[in-house]
Amino acid sequence: MSVRLTVLGTGYLGATHAACMAELGHDVLGVDVDADKIAKLTAGQAPFYEPGLDEVLARNIAAGRLRFTTSYAEAAAWGEAHFLCVGTPQRRGENAADLRYVDSVIDNLAPHVANSAVVFGKSTVPVGTAATLSGRARAAVPAGGTLEVAWNPEFLREGYAVQDTLRPDRLVLGTDTSRSSRAEELAREIYADILDAGTPFIVTDLATAEMVKTAANSFLATKISFINAMAEICEASGADITVLADAIGYDERIGRRFLNAGLGFGGGCLPKDIRAFMARAGELGASQALTFLREVDNVNMRARIRMVEMTREISGGSLIGKRVAVLGTAFKPNSDDVRDSPALNVAGQVQLQGASVTAYDPKAMENSRALFPTLDYAASLIEACEGADIILVLTEWPEFTALRPADLDELVRGKVILDGRNCLDPVPWRAAGWVYRGLGRP
Ligand code: UDX
Repeated sequence: MSVRLTVLGTGYLGATHAACMAELGHDVLGVDVDADKIAKLTAGQAPFYEPGLDEVLARNIAAGRLRFTTSYAEAAAWGEAHFLCVGTPQRRGENAADLRYVDSVIDNLAPHVANSAVVFGKSTVPVGTAATLSGRARAAVPAGGTLEVAWNPEFLREGYAVQDTLRPDRLVLGTDTSRSSRAEELAREIYADILDAGTPFIVTDLATAEMVKTAANSFLATKISFINAMAEICEASGADITVLADAIGYDERIGRRFLNAGLGFGGGCLPKDIRAFMARAGELGASQALTFLREVDNVNMRARIRMVEMTREISGGSLIGKRVAVLGTAFKPNSDDVRDSPALNVAGQVQLQGASVTAYDPKAMENSRALFPTLDYAASLIEACEGADIILVLTEWPEFTALRPADLDELVRGKVILDGRNCLDPVPWRAAGWVYRGLGRP
């Protein structure tokens, strides 16, 4: 059965969710305050790079199941379910999350609600936010309407957003257990196809649902920083982190996924989410429980510094006058996202130390230029590497992992390649007379 629903906020999360809910057969209205974004989406174009998303958008717009607006009045009149998908960035100068966009969705929507509707929060928020929003919604809804707030955290990865939304590992729903709730029934209708496929569905209270997301992201961040801490010891002792990760990864209790040592985590989620989690623990009087996350953050930031140091060391102690090619600026492959990108961060630091940096990324050029206009950007991998003294591989795009020494031998001034993602096989590079170094490899 199709449900009339809205998606409030059409960024990486919301645009994907809107398209995928229409793909499931629902009648979807996407809402954003940014008119340019809405115009693009209406034309069937995602305002960012996400594999497969444009096709799903176009197909569902053409089928009449998906449209977009900037009007909250229209959203309230349309939707029985409202998915809240706006950003919760880090507050300026603080670790805590900035909840102004989340608050403003409720403030914009609630006064127009005349039916009995449910907000499903998908944004990552500090535990306790949903309960607060619930009170805020009740206070603002006019007589005759009701607006319940439930929490339905989203776990999608950029680069796999469509498949993660249509075929998630699990669905989690938190509802206000102190009141009667329509949220579970409605969620079961909306996600019927996904649930019929046997996807685990965890129904719980609001606080637990909010925390599932922050706990999951904290665990993932910890796993990455664990392996990067091991990489530091490998560097000090001459051991090889890639072999070590494979060897411990065979233990099913540990698992090999998310154990790739290198430049560490970045992007719009993990870094700010662990910081916001620490800040929230402090507010709750439980800050000690999460002090380890500060160390997780430190290990992660040190990986960027180690990369810059390695680049300087290999240049004989100074980067002044060196020509450095940077391959990859996105925070990870299959994304054009450069928010807190370790790669762009390293490129910037290497430049600040006197090198002339030419960067190339298959998809993130426009966003990189906007965030870091002072780097030189090349139109291709080849152009970036021409005349380079050192090549830094900082994002493991397939285009870079497929590189062979012969592709670059004639182009470069110095045969030095530093692998920030441990994504190249050192053997052929060394055999071809290159200096190869990875983070945590001998
Ligand atoms: C993450 C979570 O995976 C997702 O569930 C959550 O909803 C949002 O945050 P995303 O930010 O898209 O998703 O990227 P992810 O694939 O998790 O990678 C995060 C970062 O960790 C990237 O910078 C990546 O390069 C890095 N990473 C990942 C490693 O350094 N090593 C690894 O082994 C895996």
